[in-house]
Amino acid sequence: MILEAKNIYKSYRNGVKKLPVLIDLSININKKETITIMGPSGSGKSTLLHILGTLDKPDSGEIIIDQTNINSLKERELAYLRSTKIGFIFQFHHLLPEFTAYENVLIPAQIVGNVREKQARAKELFEYIGLTDRMEHYPSQLSGGERLRVAVMRALINNPSIVFADEPTGNLDAENADKLLKLFKKISGDFDQSLIITTHNRAVAELGDRQLVLENGALINRQ
Ligand SMILES: Nc1ncnc2c1ncn2[C@@H]1O[C@H](COP(=O)(O)OP(=O)(O)O)[C@@H](O)[C@H]1O
Ligand SMILES: [Mg+2]
Repeated sequence: MILEAKNIYKSYRNGVKKLPVLIDLSININKKETITIMGPSGSGKSTLLHILGTLDKPDSGEIIIDQTNINSLKERELAYLRSTKIGFIFQFHHLLPEFTAYENVLIPAQIVGNVREKQARAKELFEYIGLTDRMEHYPSQLSGGERLRVAVMRALINNPSIVFADEPTGNLDAENADKLLKLFKKISGDFDQSLIITTHNRAVAELGDRQLVLENGALINRQ
């Protein structure tokens, strides 16, 4: 098992009102498995991924990543764990506009301090993804689909154990969504990391070894 989340509660406070989003949610993620999570808008998919990916803290509950309870970690240790074990692909790609595609892919390596060792891998990933001729382009010079594929490479550069993708096809047209779908399929066969994808797209949901739905604050099996 690579990640274990136990009895997670998370609510947001809007003024005096408390909005419960995750209610006693537990999930175990096995090494190398792909899990897809569907759920209506506002059901808490992004909140869940942020908590599982250690970007946000639950009100209560435990997250254990690779046998380490993250509650026991200092902020700096947590940041190191996050940058070495976890990759993120956000819906809005979050590429830095002032860096080229190639430089963006190497940012997580920069954070860990191993850019030199990762340069060859970055080039391999551009080949793998069929974007070698876009390496020196800036995000503004790329299409939406290309930006997302660059974000996928950035998530993979440090060989993380888990990659989270939050509605990756949400803003893509059908053709680019299909390209990204094929890329995820290829990645889950070719690399060793677990892959957790939230989606509204049925074809993407079908990628899951386990297909779940987030509903009323908890995860259930997709029917
Ligand atoms: N920072 C926040 N402050 C207050 N409410 C929030 C915050 N983030 C999300 N929410 C609310 O929590 C619920 C779940 O949001 P979210 O996790 O973004 O759902 P999804 O990704 O499934 O659309 C929504 O009702 C949203 O409005
Ligand atoms: Mg969301």
